[in-house]
Amino acid sequence: MEFLIKESKTEEFADEAMVLSHFEGEELSEVAQRIDEKIDGLIRQVLQFGDFKGKANEIAMIYTLGKIGAKRLFLVGLGKRSEVNREKVRGAYAEVAKRVRNADLKRFAVPLVGDDVPLELAAYVESLIEGIYLALYQFTPFKTVEREKIKEVDKVTLVFEERQRLPEIRQAVKTATTICHAVYFARDLVSTPANELTPSDLAQEARTIATTRKKITCEVLGPKEMKELGMNALLGVASGSHQPPKLIILSYRGNRKDKAPLVLVGKGLTFDSGGISIKPSEKMDEMKSDMAGGAAVMGAIMAVADMNLPVSVIGLIPATENLPGGRALKPGDILKSLSGQTIEVINTDAEGRLILADALSYAGRYKPAAIIDIATLTGACIIALGDEVIGLMGNNESLIGRIKKAAEITNEKVWELPLWEEYGEMIKSDVADYKNSAGRPAGTITAAAFLSKFVGDYPWAHLDIAGPAWREKEKAYLPKGASGVGVRLLVQFLRDWAREKETLEP
Ligand code: BES
Ligand code: MN
Ligand code: ZN
Repeated sequence: MEFLIKESKTEEFADEAMVLSHFEGEELSEVAQRIDEKIDGLIRQVLQFGDFKGKANEIAMIYTLGKIGAKRLFLVGLGKRSEVNREKVRGAYAEVAKRVRNADLKRFAVPLVGDDVPLELAAYVESLIEGIYLALYQFTPFKTVEREKIKEVDKVTLVFEERQRLPEIRQAVKTATTICHAVYFARDLVSTPANELTPSDLAQEARTIATTRKKITCEVLGPKEMKELGMNALLGVASGSHQPPKLIILSYRGNRKDKAPLVLVGKGLTFDSGGISIKPSEKMDEMKSDMAGGAAVMGAIMAVADMNLPVSVIGLIPATENLPGGRALKPGDILKSLSGQTIEVINTDAEGRLILADALSYAGRYKPAAIIDIATLTGACIIALGDEVIGLMGNNESLIGRIKKAAEITNEKVWELPLWEEYGEMIKSDVADYKNSAGRPAGTITAAAFLSKFVGDYPWAHLDIAGPAWREKEKAYLPKGASGVGVRLLVQFLRDWAREKETLEP
C-alpha cells in the first residue's frame, strides 16, 4: 500500500472514495460545507435524518453522482471534539479504512484541510496513517486458493490545499509509514510458523535489515561462539532442538558521539513447546509467536534507522526453539550462565528467562546507558493484567517513567508491577544460585526478579508482552493474531530519547 500526497481542491480530487471526518454535535467543517453545496446538501440530509451523528467510529456512505471528483463519500465520526486524541483518530480511520476495503475499493482519498482537529498537524497525520495502514494489515503468503478474492487497498492519497503545509505533511507521512512498515515487518515474523522461521531464518532477516541500510551492522553468534563465551543458559534451552541457536546482534549507530548506546533485548523463541515440561497441546500453535519481543526489537531498530534518528541502539535477540529432544534440558538440571551465576531449571517451560539471562549479561559489554528487554515471558502476566496490557518492571524510576510517557502516546498500555527485594528471595535455589521458576504466586514479578540478577547495575526495564503480542480478536487497527506490539512503543521511546538525551536519574 502506498500513501501519496497531492495538492488539489478537495472537491475536485478524483478518486473511488473520499473520507470526511465529522465531530459529533457540530456544524460541518469548512471543507464538508463546500462539498455539501456541490452534492445538493446530501451530507446535511444524512445528519438531519439522524442516520449519522458523528459519534466515534460511526460511518455513513454517500454516492456523489459525479458532482464532485470522488465517486463516494465515507463520513466518519470522530466523536466529541473535546475528547479527540491520537487514539480516537487512529480508531476512526482504522474503521473507515476497513469499510472501504470491504467495499472492494482499491483506493481512497483523505483531505488534510483546515485546522479543526484539536491535535497538531503532524500528530494528526501520523495518527490517521497509523489507523489506516495498521488496520489494513493481512498475512496472506501461505494462502494459495482464490487469492483473487483477497481485498486490498493499494493507494491512499492525502489531499491538501495550502502549499505551506506540505513540508510538515510530507515529514509526518514519512515518519508514520516508516513506523507502520516496521510494525508490518514484526507482525509478519510473528505470524510466520516455526517451520518457516527458525532461529537461522530470524538471523537471516536481521542480516537483510543490516545489508539494506547504511548505519546498521549485524553480527550473529552461533553455538560454537556461545560455548566459548559460556552462554550455557541459552545453549541449555536450545539443546532439545536440532536447530542451532543464534544470538542476533543488530547495531545502529545514528549518533557517533553517543558513547553509551541503548541496548534492546528481545526474546526470540521461534517455537516454545515447553520442552520436557511440555505445554498442553491446545493453542500450542500460538507459541510460534514467542519471538514477538525479538521481532519488536528488530522492527524498532529498522524504523529508527530509516528515520535516521540521532541515537545509538544495539538490539540483542537470543533465538532458539524450546523442544523436548533427547538432549533436552531436564527439570533439576543446573546451568552455569554467562554471568557465572548458576541456575537450577525447575521448569523447562520457563525458558525465556534463561535465554534472556545470557543476553542481558552480554549487554553489559556495551556499557549501555540503559537496557530494555521485551518478551512474551509469562502466562501469569495475562492473569494479572489481561491480554491487552504490557507488564512493566525495572530498577530505574526515570527509565520506567519514560516508557510510560511513550506508551501514552502510542496507546500500548503498560502497567508497572513492583519489584521488591522479597521477590528476589522467592527465586533462590537450594542447590544453585537461582531457580528458574518460583511457581504461580506473582509469576510475572518473580520472572522479572530473575532477570534483574543478570543486568548488573545498568538502568534496566522489562516489558512482558505475553498478553498483547498475540490477539484473540481484532480491534480497530489491531488485527486478530500478531499485533506487532512494542515496535511503536520502542520507536516512540527512542524518538523522545533522541530529543531529550540520556539524563537518566537513578
Ligand atoms: N512463552 C511462555 C509465556 C506465554 C504464555 C506467552 C502464554 C504467551 C502466552 C513462557 O515461556 C512460559 O511458558 N512461561 C511459563 C512460566 C512458568 C513455567 C514459570 C508460564 O507462564 O506458564
Ligand atoms: Mn515457555
Ligand atoms: Zn516462552
